[in-house]
Amino acid sequence: MSNIAEIKLNGKTHEFPTIVGTENEGAIDISKLRDLTGYITIDFGYKNTGSTKSAITFLDGEEGILKYRGYAIEELAEKSNFLEVSYLLIYGNLPTETELTAFQNEISRHTLIHEDMKKFFDGYPSKSHPMGQLSALICSLSAFYPESLEVNQSPEEKNLTLIKLLAKMPTIVSWIYKKSLGHPLIYPKNQYDYVTNFMNMTFGQRTEEVVIDPVVIKAMNTLLILHADHEQNCSASTVRMVGSSDCNLFASVSAGISALWGPLHGGANQAVIEMLELIKADGGDTEKWINKAKDKNDPFRMMGFGHRVYKNFDPRAKIIKKACDDVLEKLGVNDPVLDIAKKLEAAALSDPYFVERKLYPNVDFYSGIIYRALGFPTNMFTVLFALGRLPGWIAQWKEMHENKEPIGRPRQVYTGHTDRNYTDIKKR
Ligand code: CMC
Repeated sequence: MSNIAEIKLNGKTHEFPTIVGTENEGAIDISKLRDLTGYITIDFGYKNTGSTKSAITFLDGEEGILKYRGYAIEELAEKSNFLEVSYLLIYGNLPTETELTAFQNEISRHTLIHEDMKKFFDGYPSKSHPMGQLSALICSLSAFYPESLEVNQSPEEKNLTLIKLLAKMPTIVSWIYKKSLGHPLIYPKNQYDYVTNFMNMTFGQRTEEVVIDPVVIKAMNTLLILHADHEQNCSASTVRMVGSSDCNLFASVSAGISALWGPLHGGANQAVIEMLELIKADGGDTEKWINKAKDKNDPFRMMGFGHRVYKNFDPRAKIIKKACDDVLEKLGVNDPVLDIAKKLEAAALSDPYFVERKLYPNVDFYSGIIYRALGFPTNMFTVLFALGRLPGWIAQWKEMHENKEPIGRPRQVYTGHTDRNYTDIKKR
């Protein structure tokens, strides 16, 4: 790979250095472009634009490779648990036993949320979307920990802030769910590990001990691991962008939660189940819906299909599809939409429209079917994605600060009116 790129503009040749990452991805460093040429680049949706250098997650869309800190996602999903992966993403290495115990203990000390925050839950209508609540509640944490607003926190204080966020997120998520049912809230129990504690607060009871099936705990760990980071996607870039103004961690992550909500991003998992239900109610004719997805005059898109980066297969989808079969079998659940999903996948994978555009099932195609088998209602699916993505957002925010990155501020090519004269309102 050449290490100099040339751009010819107005008869002049300008040279730009290239950089190559540890996995041999090349980039042209155009940071001096405007100074040298007066031009900027334009790249809608940042399809070719690297916003940062990062050592957290690597993904190769052509080969379908995903690694966190150099560890293959397949190996982490099989052998690790969510807390261990969270530590890996945030601190860079797999923890020793002592480090993991200390991490778990620290988190356990901060799982309670301020009792005054319970009033916020009371204020939401029971049918309000959990993602709207989650974003607002996570931002509200900044009001209870004003020290987190301080930009120049010591490394210890910064670490405590991220521990508090990791610790309180499962409590907030499960309480949103309990409130939606009108059920009493279950408080965190420190004897449980991270995922068991979350599941107990979500599905447990105050009056008697509910033992959560280990199959369920394992499935939940796998799902959370698969969602834990995905480099510079829409929500991670949002977290970094908001954080680049020296905005506190809680508010930055709250912005990431909002970015995740959209059906083109994390909201796709809810949209997939709604789509499958719609197809089922319509008689299950998958061919008809494939044709609708291909019709450019029809706004319908095949939810859970396609990805900005993966153009071969999504490695997370492969793991999830297998987990989906296993979980449903072990729990003895027979979900009719699973058959529709499989028929839809098979038909799309052999259809030239999908093949030519390299559209494959993504992480969200089967995840909703597992969440449903575990007992979650559809509108909680994207919240579960957020719970999984939290360590990734924290790691991205932390890395951005440690690298002392400048405030994010893209430029534009202005295409509006030039000079206009103000006219009196009565004369317009
Ligand atoms: N159904 C039908 N056509 C599609 C789909 C789809 N799901 N996805 C892309 N296309 C077509 C699109 O119409 C375009 O066709 P043409 O070249 O003829 O105009 C072509 O494929 C390229 O699509 P694009 O929208 O330019 O691709 P993108 O990289 O901007 O968008 C995407 C990626 C994920 C937003 C898109 O594939 C999509 O909307 N998928 C459905 C939503 C979804 O499942 N999102 C979850 C993504 S994975 C979870 C996460 O990490 O966020």
